[in-house]
Amino acid sequence: MITEDIMNIVVVGHVDHGKSTVIGHLLADTDSLPKGKLDAIRESCKRNAKPFEYAFLLDALKNEQSQGITIDTCRCFFKTDKRRYIIIDAPGHIEFLKNMVTGASRAEAALMVIDASHGVEENTRRHGYYLSMLGIKQVAVLVNKMDLIDYDQEKFDKISKEYTDFLAEIGIQPRIFVPVSARVGDNIAFHSDVMPWYNDMTVLQVLDSFENIQPSHQLPFRMPVQGVYKFTAGGDMRRIIAGTVDSGSLSVGDEVVFYPSGKRTRVKSFEAFNAPAPTEIQCEDAAGFTMEEEIYVRRGEIACKAGEHAPQVAVRFRANLFWLGNAPLKGGRIYHFKCGTQKLPMKLLHVDRVINASNLDCADRQWVEKNEVAVCTFQLDSPAAFDTTDRLASTARFVIVDGYEQAGGGILVEALPDEAYDQRNIRTAAGAVDAQERRALTGHKGLVVWLTGLSGAGKSTIATAVERRLLALHIPAFTLDGDVLRNGLCADLGFSDEDRTENQRRAAETAVLFQRAGLVALVSTISPQQAHRDFARSCAGEDFMEVYVKADLNTCRSRDPKGLYEKQAGGGITAFTGVDSGYEVPRSPDLVLDTMADSEAYCIDALLDAILQKRS
Ligand code: ADX
Repeated sequence: MITEDIMNIVVVGHVDHGKSTVIGHLLADTDSLPKGKLDAIRESCKRNAKPFEYAFLLDALKNEQSQGITIDTCRCFFKTDKRRYIIIDAPGHIEFLKNMVTGASRAEAALMVIDASHGVEENTRRHGYYLSMLGIKQVAVLVNKMDLIDYDQEKFDKISKEYTDFLAEIGIQPRIFVPVSARVGDNIAFHSDVMPWYNDMTVLQVLDSFENIQPSHQLPFRMPVQGVYKFTAGGDMRRIIAGTVDSGSLSVGDEVVFYPSGKRTRVKSFEAFNAPAPTEIQCEDAAGFTMEEEIYVRRGEIACKAGEHAPQVAVRFRANLFWLGNAPLKGGRIYHFKCGTQKLPMKLLHVDRVINASNLDCADRQWVEKNEVAVCTFQLDSPAAFDTTDRLASTARFVIVDGYEQAGGGILVEALPDEAYDQRNIRTAAGAVDAQERRALTGHKGLVVWLTGLSGAGKSTIATAVERRLLALHIPAFTLDGDVLRNGLCADLGFSDEDRTENQRRAAETAVLFQRAGLVALVSTISPQQAHRDFARSCAGEDFMEVYVKADLNTCRSRDPKGLYEKQAGGGITAFTGVDSGYEVPRSPDLVLDTMADSEAYCIDALLDAILQKRS
């Protein structure tokens, strides 16, 4: 927890550029070292006939730490009159970057050390990138080893100008450039006589000029909605909006706005389980409140307070992320975006930059490997509400799920406009008959029934039989069969990841049009990925059922109605679902039809029943 008198900082830079020396000086000049430490090291240097260096201090502390003797060097402490500082560091880049980029640890400011004798070169740029990944806004650049360039102001100005220009390209505006000689200690804690031309702040003064991040309770109110629960007592129509408060506070009578929907109402009461109800809730509280008006609120929305800074609502965003997945992050695949309690299908649009976290090599390519840090642009299939990291850290954190694996994490940097989405999302033309009106006029309610399962599981058999039964009941219905779609609408597509994604997108969009027209659209495709099924659900909205037609591979193989398993075995088909291409079993289907255990007639009845119930 960050309090006013502590600041977490990070020192970035190559060891050869003097990072350890700067830290050593900061500790020594602020009297923050264990008693006698400095003298002991000076003494040992003398004994070994080597000149004393401040960097040895850190080495010595680290050695002792590894023997369990002294302070934790991953978190060095020092103090000024204003506050205490924690220098967060980690033994390796990977752990450190992972913690920083996923938001597990947070630095409020950074000191960036560069070597004056080298000027701005590739290495210096890499450290700039590294810094931009961390998303820290308060940055000071220390131009170190001024002694090696004869304390030359002109050279210092040239480096400052060149580096400022470069940093501007990557979105960093440093607070100041300080000429230092960390070996001697010039301008670290004390002004230096050797650089009379520099009258600005010392490094310690710069640190003291940085601002602490506001404590969480003073930030705007954010409560991701965990669930919406109904009172169970007879006749009580109220609903409780439940969740954990991420930041800020909320009182009875306050106006709340839910994002991304933008719906608003006032807080009527707080509800507590087995405890007196509070009149105000604050960050970290697990809370529940009732509303003055019963508006429809879903899990995943963020409750915010009217009048405070609102979160971003967007389908496209830029993020800094750390990738941990075994399979690389790449385009053409559907991932899930998890932020707060929201979970939405998402795809990678562009890799803006990739950095290898162990050697800081930059790569120019459109995929991200394990243990790499990257700046990427993503597209969600429907709007999400989030904050950007410069505003509110906790609601700017997100996780990327690949299949069942949490494959990456990061911080949201920028919400991006997406006109194409806004256009696409106009799903009804001006003046069009809306769903309610259509229902009133025709007496029919559209529905998408999404049957998924292996080839040979029985999807099409069940779908067509149910279609016939529905028609007999005068309910308009139509089966959208995978094979049929692939023969016409999707004839240009094969079975690669990319093509399957597009095939599923077209199937979903078509099904939604049928649904809008008031039909029960029975979609019968293998649909091997959960993300594709979630995408279909997100297009269709409430009137959607995911039906898992369950039959294991051996059963399907023994049925082999189209002879495809035999063909696959003979090498005639590759990437065949369930055999040499994956199938993700539905995580929470609305209905499971087990065609191994139950008869065809039973499965047909069960589906018909579920559809009739859903339409009622
Ligand atoms: S999906 O994976 O994109 O959902 P879809 O249901 O449209 O597949 O098409 C599957 C149908 O294509 C199967 O019923 C089968 O007839 C045929 N098919 C041909 N090759 C393959 C393959 N490699 N994997 C799966 N199905 C295949």
